[in-house]
Amino acid sequence: MSKEYSYDTPLSEILMPDGENINKTNIEIILKEEIPVFCRHKIAQRYRLMPFKTLYEANNNFWRKDKNWEFFLTKETLDKLREKNIIEPAASETKDTKKTESGSPQKPAVVQGFGDDYKALAAMSNADKVKYLSDIKNKMDDLISKKTKDKSTVTKVMVNTTRDAVMINHSALKNVFDLGDAEAKKTTQTLVYTTHEMVKSYAQLASKDIFDDELMNRLVEKSNGTVVQHMARVYLNGISFLAYYNNFVTNRAAVINMRKTLNAKYRQYYQNLLPYISIDDIVLERVFQKGMLSIHPDLFVKWAVGFLIHDIGKVDTVEYHEGEASYDRSIVVEHVKLGYNSVVNKTNYPKEASLITGYHHEYYGNPEGYGYFRDHLEHFQKANPQVRPEYCITFDLDSILECHALAYFPAKILEIVDIYDSVTDPNRVYRKALDSAEALTMMREEFITKSLKIDPLLFELFISYIRRNKTKQTG
Ligand SMILES: [Fe+2]
Ligand SMILES: [Fe+2]
Repeated sequence: MSKEYSYDTPLSEILMPDGENINKTNIEIILKEEIPVFCRHKIAQRYRLMPFKTLYEANNNFWRKDKNWEFFLTKETLDKLREKNIIEPAASETKDTKKTESGSPQKPAVVQGFGDDYKALAAMSNADKVKYLSDIKNKMDDLISKKTKDKSTVTKVMVNTTRDAVMINHSALKNVFDLGDAEAKKTTQTLVYTTHEMVKSYAQLASKDIFDDELMNRLVEKSNGTVVQHMARVYLNGISFLAYYNNFVTNRAAVINMRKTLNAKYRQYYQNLLPYISIDDIVLERVFQKGMLSIHPDLFVKWAVGFLIHDIGKVDTVEYHEGEASYDRSIVVEHVKLGYNSVVNKTNYPKEASLITGYHHEYYGNPEGYGYFRDHLEHFQKANPQVRPEYCITFDLDSILECHALAYFPAKILEIVDIYDSVTDPNRVYRKALDSAEALTMMREEFITKSLKIDPLLFELFISYIRRNKTKQTG
């Protein structure tokens, strides 16, 4: 169930009771107790709950310096602090606290979890949710049949519908979470089917190459920083990038160039991943099992469903920031487990889509990554000691499950899009969002040069995709 929070006391009053000196004991206890901080955006009036530790490690003065955000502790937290005797009971009665006529402190508005839109969609009956998704599909089909070339119309429809589709799927799964598996699957069956049909239409539009920066910018503008907004952006950017990839592989000269790039720059990178393979054998068909294959439309749709639901295991009372070293890892890891297990056990989403929810933070098995593949690989190899991954990436479901490759193609695509989105998200609380060029530079440095995490050839392709989008926008 969605939990509502109210904010009560400015954090500064607990951390600097005299308005000047920092109370280090309070900080130590807040850190030890893993106390969350309630953050309010001063202008947009957005709210979010963040671990104190994350904010503090990013900036040990964050409550004083931030121009855009205000920080509070909740009443719940203050009670806990009082129990630990770190503040005097009177400290929560602050000089700024307004009194109502009855004399009790006036509480500002409560936070909204994923937002009021989410609440409204979540409250709909299952049948209404299905109808809503069907309507989205009809809108998409209408755009396709009219062969509309008006990008702003397409953009508007896509931006408005994508977030709703994400929220509906998220809330539908949440609603059946406590049901038995068979009943949950039965309840979500029509909704899952309709989602699949709806995604087919999105995929058709994406293959028409209508995505560009304008679409993504509009989506970002509409975003208020919640997880569902991130999922919507990643979904659209993900299918757009997949469509770009599909187009790329039909260009023979471009694939030959990719082969050259591999030879010139990345053979060592891949050999480090497959140390038992001779460097002379590191060719494109070793990186991609059977080479850079084009994606069949049916498979494209299954993967696109995976992109849509990739973070479905995230809950609305926690603020997630993937890829941030300072963030509480166990919270982030949990969303993959929860997502994968609930998708597999409670729904009939395609198996391919469930693997994307479970494997999208693997980073080629890098210790900083997490997910199901490493556990699966370990068990599988124990049972089948003769098997070892011979390829870096596979397109094939059986091949990944039988551990013939280190990674599943759509999960590697998603990793890149996912990181790019999280580091460029303008709603970041604790760190400035990077612009596109800064994000690409940082990703290369951190995720390719310093560590073997994202795929360098797919990343080369992603850079050309982002550049293409920008050219399209200005051209
Ligand atoms: Fe994720
Ligand atoms: Fe994500």
